[in-house]
Amino acid sequence: MWAIAAEQFGGPVRSMELPEPAAGPGELKVRMFAAGVNPFDRKVVDGMMRDSMPHVFPLVPGTDGAGEVVETGERIFGTFFHSPVGVGTFAEYTTVPATNALAPLPDELDPVVAAALPTSGMTALQLSDRLEGADSVLVVGARGGVGSFLTQLLGDRAIPIGRGDALVEADALVDLVSDADRYAANRKFARSLAFTTNYAAAEKAENFGMKGSLEALTRLAGLVLDGTLQVPITRRLPLREANDVFAGSGGGKTVVVM
Ligand SMILES: NC(=O)c1ccc[n+]([C@@H]2O[C@H](COP(=O)([O-])OP(=O)(O)OC[C@H]3O[C@@H](n4cnc5c(N)ncnc54)[C@H](OP(=O)(O)O)[C@@H]3O)[C@@H](O)[C@H]2O)c1
Repeated sequence: MWAIAAEQFGGPVRSMELPEPAAGPGELKVRMFAAGVNPFDRKVVDGMMRDSMPHVFPLVPGTDGAGEVVETGERIFGTFFHSPVGVGTFAEYTTVPATNALAPLPDELDPVVAAALPTSGMTALQLSDRLEGADSVLVVGARGGVGSFLTQLLGDRAIPIGRGDALVEADALVDLVSDADRYAANRKFARSLAFTTNYAAAEKAENFGMKGSLEALTRLAGLVLDGTLQVPITRRLPLREANDVFAGSGGGKTVVVM
């Protein structure tokens, strides 16, 4: 099968032919339709998890995707990240524990759109649930994957902050890009709630971690299908031409299409 993979930590990724993975006990083998790209995938290639989980090489990155279970034909989308790391979604076939956050792919939902949703969409959805009491929310990094969903979910309560924009005082802050020093400076603009997705806060409760679930994926699919949520796909890359998959999307989402 064709896949995008890295031969070592920190290495470039490139298109290559690899053996199809075989599903282990409790796993599904999935023929991928499309895979969404997240900053986490590059971090994994760079070795972020090297001390905490086993990895296989060539390492196929990719956490999000939509595809068809080979054994049953069921169409699914969701998060595929599991141990060992390296059997990811940037491939024609992958495997995934059946217990992962996976949901049925509705017939009316374009698989490319579904593949762009899981990590960024569930993060944005769960953040917006935590921000219900805030009338104004600074979103730092608003043009990216999480930010573009979160600003839509917050509607006119969102104050989008891009590069170089000055912050103003608001009820809440969601910081999607800053390191610890910058986060501490930005935190001063929030009157009450503040969250970082980069674990940059000294206050533990402000370090937000997304929890994938069937319920969240189903809600997201519903929001897309009823027109509440637009999915800004700014780059679509054919699998065999996706060597620069991590080049950035200029805002919105990159999706690899098989
Ligand atoms: N903890 C969790 O559960 C969780 C879940 C999802 C994501 N994350 C993390 O959250 C972060 C954001 O994810 P994402 O998918 O939204 O990433 P993304 O798609 O790369 O978006 C980040 C956006 O922030 C912009 N940006 C960069 N530096 C900025 C600055 N100083 N001020 C304002 N905007 C700036 C980027 O612009 P350019 O395109 O110009 O660079 C880009 O539009 C990543 O680090 C990701 O790993 C964590």
